[in-house]
Amino acid sequence: MRKSLVAGNWKMNGSLETVDALAEGIVQNQAEIGCDVLVCPVSVHLDRVSRLIDGSLVKLGAQNCSDKSSGAYTGEVSAEMLKEVGCSFVILGHSERRTLFSEGDELIRNKLLSVLDAGLIPVLCVGETLDEREQGVAEAVVKAQVLAALKGVTKNLESVVVAYEPVWAIGTGLTATPEQAQAMHAFIRSVLAEISEELSLKVRILYGGSVKPENAREIFGQPDIDGGLIGGASLKVKDFISICQAAG
Ligand code: G3P
Repeated sequence: MRKSLVAGNWKMNGSLETVDALAEGIVQNQAEIGCDVLVCPVSVHLDRVSRLIDGSLVKLGAQNCSDKSSGAYTGEVSAEMLKEVGCSFVILGHSERRTLFSEGDELIRNKLLSVLDAGLIPVLCVGETLDEREQGVAEAVVKAQVLAALKGVTKNLESVVVAYEPVWAIGTGLTATPEQAQAMHAFIRSVLAEISEELSLKVRILYGGSVKPENAREIFGQPDIDGGLIGGASLKVKDFISICQAAG
């Protein structure tokens, strides 16, 4: 049985003051949470948040990392550096990285290998655009993203978390219906089964895209949805805790 996971992707948000309040608020309410819970601040806040959640049930994740381990890569941060400040997860391939920063499948796969090599857990984001869905190629796009990122990967493969985030639902208030989300999650699980049946049963597949306290329970109640990757609603303690409670 897969334990539900709810991850808060704080994106490029927060000041030292608000990040402290958010992290402390989640820790203070952790007794309300029955699922695995993860917060992903911007990199400059990771060490601070790591200290605030230390000793709690809350895990720490980064929003990205380099595919390199060290060297002349100005502005980059390696998976090992993230591990040193207490990260156990790293979000990779978010649609905002793919579209705004031109991250392609090969770079995302190399980043995933670096994350696994460092003993961290990648949260691999995949998802189609509205045009792709309307053209009827959503499954083909998502399948290609999953297989490209996992191509030839063997070490710690079963630790990978996949996050299905339809691009048209991110930050738009447009949420995939539970049926749409379940259909794509079941399809992703079938793609993983092409690699290994055991992998398909073990991998947690999260849904992301305008998850709110009002819709979380119905979405998370779907058989192949193992939790959520939450953007806007993760910035409010009350909403984030409600979403975690909906995940069970
Ligand atoms: O990574 C999660 C994010 O893309 C979803 O954003 O604001 O639609 O919950 P939001």
